[in-house]
Amino acid sequence: MHNVIELTDIVKTYQRGEITIPVLHGITLSIEAGSMTAIMGASGSGKSTLLNILGCLDRPSAGTYRLDGLDVTHCSRDERAEIRNSKLGFCFQHFHLLPRMSALDNVTMPLDYGDSGLSPQQAQDRGAELLAQVGLAERMDHEPAQLSGGQQQRVAIARALVNRPAILFADEPTGALDSRTSAEILELFRQLHTDVGVTVVLVTHDQNVAAHAKRIIHIQDGLIAA
Ligand SMILES: Nc1ncnc2c1ncn2[C@@H]1O[C@H](COP(=O)(O)OP(=O)(O)O)[C@@H](O)[C@H]1O
Ligand SMILES: [Mg+2]
Repeated sequence: MHNVIELTDIVKTYQRGEITIPVLHGITLSIEAGSMTAIMGASGSGKSTLLNILGCLDRPSAGTYRLDGLDVTHCSRDERAEIRNSKLGFCFQHFHLLPRMSALDNVTMPLDYGDSGLSPQQAQDRGAELLAQVGLAERMDHEPAQLSGGQQQRVAIARALVNRPAILFADEPTGALDSRTSAEILELFRQLHTDVGVTVVLVTHDQNVAAHAKRIIHIQDGLIAA
């Protein structure tokens, strides 16, 4: 298996006016295509900062990042948006679904923004297939408010997969869910990574979450802990 992610000596420093806030101090890390990895660490350790760089939402201050064989370290805002649309999927703690839209329309929405080449019918079919895959075949017409938290996260996961990304990033995906629902969502990630072959990278501070991943990377004060 090849490495879909290769980070070398990644440093991230935020600038707030006169104040410099160093957050990542030199992260070197490879992630294999098709794997499932959990990034763990205490609150404030730099997990989201790292995930934002991995997800091409932000750029490192120093170091290099190769994504799927491409050096993306210095990509512009537009280039990073293009990479995100074509290669990456995201889900978050609070789902970020659009309230007055059906589950199906939420899932297919990203297809309206890229050049998927799909007809409206094909887009609907793909959305329906993904919703069935996450166990919501019977809920496609429901709006988010008519769904439980776990179901909303399933919709968000289906939406994250609609462009057939190489990598699915999840930042605290079970942070707003009870422990039983969390276990179900984690099982879904595990299942998707084996069945669909998508690379899964999830960030969490929850021990139980990490237990579902084959590989756990601990981050502490902006460094990978031994
Ligand atoms: N945009 C920002 N500007 C300044 N400081 C930030 C910014 N984002 C995060 N930080 C700081 O970086 C540190 C790590 O934050 P974060 O990556 O969100 O940690 P985690 O996700 O592990 O809780 C924190 O001290 C936080 O205050
Ligand atoms: Mg965070």
